[in-house]
Amino acid sequence: MEIKITKAEVLKQKPDSSTLGFGKIFTDHMFLMDWNSENGWQNARIVPFANISLHPASTVLHYGSEIFEGLKAYRTKDGKVQLFRPIENIRRMNRSAERLCLPQIPEDLALKVLETFVELEKDWTPSAEGTSLYLRPFMFGNDESLGVHAVHNATYCIIASPVGSYYAEGINPVKIMIEDRDVRAVRGGTGYAKCGGNYAASNRAGERAAREGYSQVLWLDGVERKYIEEVGAMNVMFKIAGKIVTPALTGSILPGITRMSCIEVLKNMGYEVEERLLDVAELETALENGTLEEAWGCGTAAVVSPIGELAYKGKKYSVNNGKIGDVTQTLYDTLTGIQWGKIEDKFGWTYPIK
Ligand code: PLP
Ligand code: COI
Repeated sequence: MEIKITKAEVLKQKPDSSTLGFGKIFTDHMFLMDWNSENGWQNARIVPFANISLHPASTVLHYGSEIFEGLKAYRTKDGKVQLFRPIENIRRMNRSAERLCLPQIPEDLALKVLETFVELEKDWTPSAEGTSLYLRPFMFGNDESLGVHAVHNATYCIIASPVGSYYAEGINPVKIMIEDRDVRAVRGGTGYAKCGGNYAASNRAGERAAREGYSQVLWLDGVERKYIEEVGAMNVMFKIAGKIVTPALTGSILPGITRMSCIEVLKNMGYEVEERLLDVAELETALENGTLEEAWGCGTAAVVSPIGELAYKGKKYSVNNGKIGDVTQTLYDTLTGIQWGKIEDKFGWTYPIK
């Protein structure tokens, strides 16, 4: 499919790298493509960045038919721009689409439009330490009717935002509260899909935690309120008595690409990695007897984010004396080293942009 490109007449001024934050500034253009059940995907186009106009009955505004992805373009020290495992984001997007009854995008088409868009906007990829161009592909249903059913019309869009660190703390350890009231997702629900509704429903607990001075919550499973699932909008990992433990992907957890990459790096380093159910009582015991050596969240936005304090049922526990641990630091250095082209990519994860 041909991609029609209409360039912006006036280009915006690129921001100072020290003022980036996360997802507040957007580039000059955006990608759009329409789908309908009769003709499939059509009208692939890159246009100047602008508001999207929607019919007030549009499906997404009423029934939340929306999915998204998040990946980054990184500038290497020789000035080139590269992506990290983009095909994994495309595959996950299609799994999310299947769950929400939104259309599939053939992998080669999704990769081609992403690449074309990043190539056009690549000058927006910042070069300061720790900065990147965050890419946000998203798809929504936009039938102009209020019936509840799988959509017949959808729009796919990609926008891009130059970003610094996601958390104000950067790589410094964060304080996390174990949430025993709300749950993020349930098995059989949409936890494994990256759909907007999951995030809307997670905000109440996040806000409560923030009011009590915590950066985010540690989610427990929705059936027994017992098994650890994720931390905020990141996957979570622990080092307990020398072994790495991370919750198994039971259906309510988002299969993170950073999680998958951490597991491969850790196994490559010789660590045993257990993907299994992790009872909060086991975590409590490990916190009490000092065998919880490290804890961290992992996701595209923050890469890895060390957990320095955990609170549960009114008790506060410090993790590794509130400092980043060796495994967490090594994972951060290895993943960011590969992403920013500072170390050899022996896994074949990077994807250069022309
Ligand atoms: N869990 C949730 C709920 C997320 O939103 C994300 C972010 O995308 C992740 C985990 C981490 O996934 P990834 O490493 O692919 O960014
Ligand atoms: C992540 O990249 O880890 C995220 O969770 C992204 C977030 C802005 C939804």
